[in-house]
Amino acid sequence: MVQKVKSLIEKGCLILEKKQVTKVSKLLHGGDYNPEQWINYPEVLEQDIEFLRIANTNAFSIGMFSWATLEPTEGVYNFEWLDEVFDRIYKMGGHILLATPSGARPAWMSQKYPEVLRTDAERRKMLHGGRHNHCFSSPIYREKIQNINRKLAERYGDHPALIMWHVSNEYGGECHCDLCQENFREFLKVKYDNDLDKLNHAWWSTFWSHTITDWSQIESPSPIGENAVHGMNLDWRRFVTHQTIDFYKTEVEPLREITPEIPLTTNFMADNPDLIPFQGLDYSQFAKEVDVVTWDAYPTWHNDRESTADVAMKVAFIDDLYRSLKQQPFLLLESTPSAVNWIDYNKTKRPGMHYLSAMQMLAHGSDSNMYFQIRKSRGSSEKFHGAIIDHDMDMNNRVFQEVKKVGDQMAKMPELAGSPKPAEVAVLYDWESNWAIDDAQSFGEDSRLYPQTVQEHYRAFWAKDIPVDVITKEQNWDSYKLLVVPMLYLMDAQTIERLQKFVEKGGTLVSTYITGVVDEHDLVHLGGWPKPLQETFGLKPLETDTLYPKDRNAVTYAGKSYEMKDYGTVLDVESAKPVAFYEEDYYQNQPAVTSHEWGEGKAYYIGARLERAFHDDFYGRLIEDLDLKAIVSAEAPASVSIQGRRMDETTNLVFVMNFSEESQVVYLNEEVVDIDGNQTMSGELVLDPYEVKIVKNKIAQ
Ligand code: GAL
Repeated sequence: MVQKVKSLIEKGCLILEKKQVTKVSKLLHGGDYNPEQWINYPEVLEQDIEFLRIANTNAFSIGMFSWATLEPTEGVYNFEWLDEVFDRIYKMGGHILLATPSGARPAWMSQKYPEVLRTDAERRKMLHGGRHNHCFSSPIYREKIQNINRKLAERYGDHPALIMWHVSNEYGGECHCDLCQENFREFLKVKYDNDLDKLNHAWWSTFWSHTITDWSQIESPSPIGENAVHGMNLDWRRFVTHQTIDFYKTEVEPLREITPEIPLTTNFMADNPDLIPFQGLDYSQFAKEVDVVTWDAYPTWHNDRESTADVAMKVAFIDDLYRSLKQQPFLLLESTPSAVNWIDYNKTKRPGMHYLSAMQMLAHGSDSNMYFQIRKSRGSSEKFHGAIIDHDMDMNNRVFQEVKKVGDQMAKMPELAGSPKPAEVAVLYDWESNWAIDDAQSFGEDSRLYPQTVQEHYRAFWAKDIPVDVITKEQNWDSYKLLVVPMLYLMDAQTIERLQKFVEKGGTLVSTYITGVVDEHDLVHLGGWPKPLQETFGLKPLETDTLYPKDRNAVTYAGKSYEMKDYGTVLDVESAKPVAFYEEDYYQNQPAVTSHEWGEGKAYYIGARLERAFHDDFYGRLIEDLDLKAIVSAEAPASVSIQGRRMDETTNLVFVMNFSEESQVVYLNEEVVDIDGNQTMSGELVLDPYEVKIVKNKIAQ
């Protein structure tokens, strides 16, 4: 079986080639630059260039919040200041990611065209202010953004500094105005073939007499109206993604038309401070429309809830998810070089952490390290947010020096740009399952934790330095040796069939409790667990027990006891082989974890939420059985992460990163070469707290 999958890899099913993602084949170092705030300080703008040169930066996102400066009154444009910025940056050898300004609009527009303002779920019209608060349907807003984008493309499309379009800024949120209601109805008409019976069935709307008899009765979910029809809630979330993408497509029309060779991106987010994938939009859909996936990472390093290694694991998870969305390098578009300004306690990065976290990005497939922001604002809400250039305007500033260290190091490894990060394991993440399970009035209110559960399974591989792709359900998973699918609550027939085929053809599949419960309409599968899942796993889940937060049970696996909390599934085991058993309660001694041979592969079912030690041991065994390889053969503590990228046919560039406050010792079972000194090393390698060693090794043939 392993042999069979290996041969797929040899056939090139895993992405192993280099892929250039911007117009230049370089690592990018820089960030959000807001020169419009400094137009009246020409000496500051001149000085910026000197700072940027010394910090070894080369890429700048400009213009995301410049609309009021670019178009101070309707139809009157002011580009001269931006021309100068372009030229100044070009002269210093820098590149520009030019933003479209839809993230925040001028006051004259809200005043003259109130339809551009957003309406919230309680149907309150928002006032002008803040940002990211426009209606995604408004024809006027679409027209206005197209106009300004056309002007920008015409003026700067041929400028040699331009390497990418940064479309808008962190799309998010939703609008419930009349225009959006109408578009929601249209979306549903297309989805349900204009057939209200189909819609009513999918929404199970006879429940509480919620049958829809005319399309005009449909209203978006609201706390003061309909919110109990789960099929509708799910369709609304899908619509919000659809409508946001639709707006994006309108925005980019002039850019695609005038500058077809300039790649497009829009910056994705994470939900902070939990550091889970952003929940508001289904990025698996959005990723199809951008040329490059980029994201803004704001981990809360040194917080008082979790270890540095835990934070590092969560960053790695999102990196691997966003990289896998297009199976190519991504860009880190924003991060802070020191502190943010928007959480309860805005702690600075400790010395060394900035460099370490920047190297982690490169290790996981980023071709950039970019910051919010280049220069700290003087006033308004972001005046204390971390930046390369502080109010003190001093290059001896600790943060500036750390940024420079990152820039200097990145300049030494240009060959990393475009390099792939192959993986033999995939962990599956699904936005729709998360929406649906969060909506379910069952299970534990605070213990569903779908994204966190997927991260916990991912962690077992991260801690052992096994490279992982985090993929979504529409992606191809045939070439992986192992596919881990935790809590995939929502499964359509096609996903179920593809999972079965994967195992049949020799893959190893792991799934868990609360998987395959509802279909794509959030309707529960009838007749128990879907038949193909029963066949693949050789069992039927009978009931899922939800525990109170203080309740505990335990499971015995391979002679050891592991703590269980939150969920335990009672299983009717048919042809599967039980490999772990519940220790207590009415399902005492019954199977908790099973394995099952199906076709040429194997399917494991983990019925309970178990402590980390279980994942470490269970996946540790699978890693051995399937001969899954780390990038370097080494023994390392879990808080040391060893990740890297394949630079060519024979060589990997490897980052050995200590995500802890103590020195750590790694034992290298193979020889590596230090990237700086060209010294060879093997055996014991000592890392100081937060230290990173960058080495090269030969790819095992
Ligand atoms: C991002 C945003 C930036 C800046 C930053 C501060 O979400 O895109 O414009 O506000 O947060 O951390």
